[in-house]
Amino acid sequence: MPLKQLVYASRPFGFDDLALRGILALARRNNERDGITGALVCREDLYLQLLEGRHDRVEAALKRIAVDDRHTDLKVLISGDVTERLFPGWAMRHDPARSWMWSRAEIAAGSLDRCSRASVLDVFHRIAAEPAEADSAADDPNEKAGCPHSD
Ligand SMILES: Cc1cc2nc3c(=O)[nH]c(=O)nc-3n(C[C@H](O)[C@H](O)[C@H](O)COP(=O)(O)O)c2cc1C
Repeated sequence: MPLKQLVYASRPFGFDDLALRGILALARRNNERDGITGALVCREDLYLQLLEGRHDRVEAALKRIAVDDRHTDLKVLISGDVTERLFPGWAMRHDPARSWMWSRAEIAAGSLDRCSRASVLDVFHRIAAEPAEADSAADDPNEKAGCPHSD
């Protein structure tokens, strides 16, 4: 049975470690229940989330996520069928936005709206290929800003 793969980007509202931990805890609890897997890239200026699972479950999660006031300007970038999961072992992997992603200036200038489906997916393929970092308040996204990846 095909799975739905969905990627959206949004702008955090009130981003800090505590907020992020709360979001991840809730996401993991619900996603485990719903058979959803994925990854959430987080930085002060960006959430980029991939969700994969049964169509109805992913759509229901998106509906809940879309009305969450912890972020704003949610835009769906990818929505389609896949046969395999990219993050099979992860109710929601967390990844700080990396230097090879878009810079803050690029995000502010709307680069994500213009970039191809392939380059967005490439971000998640790279994350899936790396060992996971511990979820930690010590993750410092400021160290990782500034990058050339856009098209
Ligand atoms: C950036 C972000 C990502 C989220 N990711 C998920 C998710 O993957 N799964 C999920 O169920 N809720 C996620 N949430 C939380 C939902 O918006 C919502 O609060 C939650 O699903 C409500 O669950 P409840 O009905 O069990 O209280 C996310 C919220 C934010 C702000």
